[in-house]
Amino acid sequence: MKTCDIAVYGLGVMGSSLAKNIMSHGFAVAAYSKSPEERARFQRDTGADTVCTTVDEMLEGLQSPRCIFLMITAGRPVDMVLEELCPRLRPGDVILDGGNSFYRDTGRRYEECRKQGICYVGIGVSGGEKGALYGPSMMAGGSLEGWKQTRHILQTISAHADGKPCCDYIAAGGGGHYVKMVHNGIEYAILQLIAEIWYFMSSTLEMSGEEILSCFQSWKKGGLDSYLMEISIQVLQKKDKDGSLLVDKILDVAEQKGTGKWTMQDSLERGVYIPTIYEALSARNFSGKKRLRMQGSEQLQATVQKVFVENPEETLGNALLLGMILSYSQGFELIAKASAEENWAIDFGRLIDVWSNGCIIRSRLLAKIRQTGILISADEPLLLEQGFSWLKELEPALRETVGKSVLSGTPLPALAGALGYYDYYRMKQMPVNFIQALRDCFGAHTYQRTDREGHFHTNWEE
Ligand code: 6PG
Repeated sequence: MKTCDIAVYGLGVMGSSLAKNIMSHGFAVAAYSKSPEERARFQRDTGADTVCTTVDEMLEGLQSPRCIFLMITAGRPVDMVLEELCPRLRPGDVILDGGNSFYRDTGRRYEECRKQGICYVGIGVSGGEKGALYGPSMMAGGSLEGWKQTRHILQTISAHADGKPCCDYIAAGGGGHYVKMVHNGIEYAILQLIAEIWYFMSSTLEMSGEEILSCFQSWKKGGLDSYLMEISIQVLQKKDKDGSLLVDKILDVAEQKGTGKWTMQDSLERGVYIPTIYEALSARNFSGKKRLRMQGSEQLQATVQKVFVENPEETLGNALLLGMILSYSQGFELIAKASAEENWAIDFGRLIDVWSNGCIIRSRLLAKIRQTGILISADEPLLLEQGFSWLKELEPALRETVGKSVLSGTPLPALAGALGYYDYYRMKQMPVNFIQALRDCFGAHTYQRTDREGHFHTNWEE
């Protein structure tokens, strides 16, 4: 077997696509999977003579330092493979984990490998099967040395935007997987926003399939241009065998693999408010209560108003656009907070470059955010950045959409969450002084005053 530049361990959908992508750029790949079926399929598809039947064969086929790209299921399988691989590796060898691993696991694995001199890189890979095959967006973290050893391959096979690779080193430890996790949180939010707008149009406003499609097509030509709008249009056009829309035949129970939940848990730990992501996650969870929802639709008859939106294309398009911007804003706030707390010093310009193409949340909006040249810090969210004062023009549309959805009894929680986030940033005075008073009243927890320094306690019964 010829000497290979890199090994790909795991030949499922993502692994085999990534291996094919690497090979198509002229790099020799030692391909390995535990599954004989996956090995045989890869061999059949590619005709490669570098498909290995054992881990030892895979390692023997690699030039030094040996680089192994793991494309396996996140979680316990990664630890099991590391137990198998690490004793066989030498100092300086590189392991890349391209799965959706939890970032704290990646941080731990990075430290364990570092002690053995092994360079561990946790790398978030976005773009699905097609992205892996033709150019994903990749967010690397962990060993800088490992990144330097492999960047010539990674930046060649990644997507590009304006001639720049959408693949870079983002941060130490689990930082690469962290930003991929938040990317997925934003992905959840935007998917939910699109679904809510579509539902409001079809179920509440009773617009026809053609009318809805026409709105989406026109939005795609404007500020909402994005990969997720592009595939929404495909969904809105896809017919089932009987000529009806396929989407209407899909059961309304959504699944998930965990990255959205991790994003949410992490935001709670760090105290960052990301309501649109929360509502997107909760909608998926709640969708599982199909039986109870059916029952409730019979029992809980509500007083609802028939609502009318004068120019749905403009109003709902603007509401969706603002919802999307606020989803990015929430995600960036979370990353900024984590970056400060973990000493990652994440460069947002670089991150947005990486998200410019190849990833699921790529959009014209991100390009606009990049052009505005903002410097996001944990204290200053995107919506307060100077270049974003135009957001105010979109606010009436979001307010009208959410308001009318409430009157019509159609929950649009992600859009409402986005509006709540926006409105919180407009609140000079929050009602929490009342909470402070109550806390002091029942528990002597003390409060601060607006007119004097210090902490005060009052005997509220006197
Ligand atoms: C990507 C996607 C990818 C995967 C999601 C799906 O960036 O390519 O985010 O990683 O599609 O993890 O997640 P759910 O199954 O949780 O929706």
